[in-house]
Formats: sequence, C-alpha cells, structure tokens
Amino acid sequence: MYNKAYHPNQISNLSFLVTGGAGFIGSNLVEYLLHHNAGKIVVLDNYATGYASNLEPFKHHSNLEIINGDICSLDDCNKACAGVDYVLHQAALGSVPRSVENPIATNKVNVDGFLNMLVAARDAKVKRFVYASSSSVYGDSKVLPKVESQIGNPLSPYAVTKLLNELYADVFAKTYQMEITGLRYFNIFGPRQNPGGPYAAAIPLFMDALLSNKPAYINGDGGQTRDFTFVQNAVEANIKSLFSVKNAGDPMVFNVAVSDRISIKELYEVLKDVSGSKIDAIHRSERPGDIRDSLADISSAKKYIGYDPQVKMVDGLKITMDWFRQAFYNN
Ligand SMILES: NC(=O)c1ccc[n+]([C@@H]2O[C@H](COP(=O)([O-])OP(=O)(O)OC[C@H]3O[C@@H](n4cnc5c(N)ncnc54)[C@H](O)[C@@H]3O)[C@@H](O)[C@H]2O)c1
Repeated sequence: MYNKAYHPNQISNLSFLVTGGAGFIGSNLVEYLLHHNAGKIVVLDNYATGYASNLEPFKHHSNLEIINGDICSLDDCNKACAGVDYVLHQAALGSVPRSVENPIATNKVNVDGFLNMLVAARDAKVKRFVYASSSSVYGDSKVLPKVESQIGNPLSPYAVTKLLNELYADVFAKTYQMEITGLRYFNIFGPRQNPGGPYAAAIPLFMDALLSNKPAYINGDGGQTRDFTFVQNAVEANIKSLFSVKNAGDPMVFNVAVSDRISIKELYEVLKDVSGSKIDAIHRSERPGDIRDSLADISSAKKYIGYDPQVKMVDGLKITMDWFRQAFYNN
C-alpha cells in the first residue's frame, strides 16, 4: 500500500517518533516509515485504544523501538523524544461520544498529554512536530466546504481538546520557534481501524455488521454527510508535512480530506454493494455533539504541503473491506 514515496530524499539517516503508533493511523505511519527504510522509528503508546497486534507485522524490524508509555507522563514523553528528528503525534482519546461521557479522561490525554509532548519535543529540539487535529474544530460553523480560517464553536469536549491543541501549537511555534503543523483529519478509514467497542467509527462498524450478518445502526435519518478519507491519504499528508518548505507566516493547520462527501445512508448502500450483503440498516436516535455536514476545502494543503490525495473513497472502501475480510473473517 505504501510503495509511493511522499518524502523528497532518503530517510535512512533520520529518526521518527510516532505517538499512538499502536493505533489505527499511527500503525499506518509506522508501516510507511518502515517500508521506506527510515533510520529509526520510535513508538510511544500505552495501548489505551491501540493494539500490540497492529504492530505485530513490523516487530521484527530492528529499527523499530516500541515504548509502552503514557503521554500523560512527561518522563515518558522525554524518553520517547530523546534523539528523535521528527515527531508524528497521533496519541489521543478519539471519539466525540467518549468525550461526552467522560470529558475529564479525554481532556487529560488530549490536552495535558499534548502539552507534555510539546514540551518534550521542544526540549529534545526536534526538527518538526506534526500532530493530529480534527474536523470537529469546525463545530457549529455552517460554512461548506470547510476552510481552515473559518471555524465555529466546538460541539463536544473532544472538539474543545483539539482546538486547544491548535492554540498551544500556535503559541509554542511563536514562543519557542518550533516548527509545528496540525492536520485536521476528516473521518479517516482504512486497514487496522478498530470495529469493536462502544466508540467505533461508522465504516468499521458497518463493515463488521455486513460481514457477520449483524444489524447495523444509522444514527438519525442518515442524511448527515462526511468527507471520508482513506488512511493512505492521511499518511501522505503527515509525511509531506514533515518535509514541506515552511516560510514565516504560512498556515499551521491543514484539512486532510478528499473534498468529496457522501451521506451516511449512501455510504451504507455502497458498503452493502461492496460486501454483497442484502441486510438493511436500522435507524436510531441522533448522537449529541455530532456535526450535520462535513466537507473540506483542501486547496491550502495542496498549496503549502503539496497534498494530493490519490485514493478515492470507493477504492479505499474496497481495500478496507478486503482487509477486514482477511483480518477478522479469514476469507
Ligand atoms: N480516525 C479518525 O477519523 C480521526 C479523525 C480526526 C482526528 N483523529 C485523531 O487522529 C489520532 C489517531 O486516531 P486513530 O483513529 O488512529 O485512533 P486510535 O485510537 O486507533 O489511536 C490512538 C492511539 O493513541 C494511543 N493512546 C491513547 N492514549 C494514550 C496515552 N495516554 N499515552 C500513549 N498513547 C495513548 C492509543 O492506545 C492508540 O494506539 C488521534 O489524535 C485522533 O484524535 C482521528
């Protein structure tokens, strides 16, 4: 999946820290970096929502170091950042509903943990710090497509934490002359996304339901739209953000999406088709904190980091469905 290089030169003399590397997006970043012979890859993860199995295929690489640690510990962050050139910070507690149920836990990891990582990266003098923000920062803004400079009020504790990340990043860049880029992910999906637990995202949930003939649930009328983005595109955005030329005054956050949207009920129909299932979804009540419509303008990411997402949604869904079949159903 990661044959194409998104970095300009050899990376065999460079070291990278991927926090949350045992998670969905983090493990895809690890896969890319190993595939392109990165000099050293350090993973910092406490397995709160990630899995050792996500790193299992890569464990034999001698240039991969896995630290079982917590970003809420500054010591763990310092240890992970020591001697590292670049940081790809993915560790966080995702999910809007999780944050609605337990805002303190989400804040602790996503805000205190984020601040620890910024301080550790500053003290280790890393070359660049790229971190996962979220489309949730657009909150109640009705503007479509979403442009980076126009955000609304956050609709969930999770969105507040991601907005705070962006504020801290801005201040750290100015105060400590750090090079920092935030990526506002729009509904990323792909291999290794977790279909289990109460906070699973729509695509893995639907795939799991369709492949095992279980009922799938659509929240509300299903007319809500999303700019679903295959994980390979998110990996491209991360790697290009590490190496893009940065000039004073350039934007510090970018949308990571495809700039194409689909409603949840249409998505379910596409997945039904891809899976060959005939089972219809069941509608249930809307979720608090959810955004109605989401569609990104990606022209700024194109201009400043050269982001050019190659994988369209349907192609990504087919790759993901194949992966789910093999990983969970052995067929
Ligand atoms: N998947 C999406 O659609 C999406 C959308 C917007 C933003 N994001 C953000 O992207 C990042 C990665 O998300 P993901 O979908 O891969 O989720 P994930 O849950 O699969 O990965 C998060 C990883 O962080 C680790 N982690 C959590 N708390 C930690 C802690 N205290 N210390 C160390 N590690 C910890 C988890 O164990 C997990 O491996 C997160 O910051 C998330 O908020 C994801």
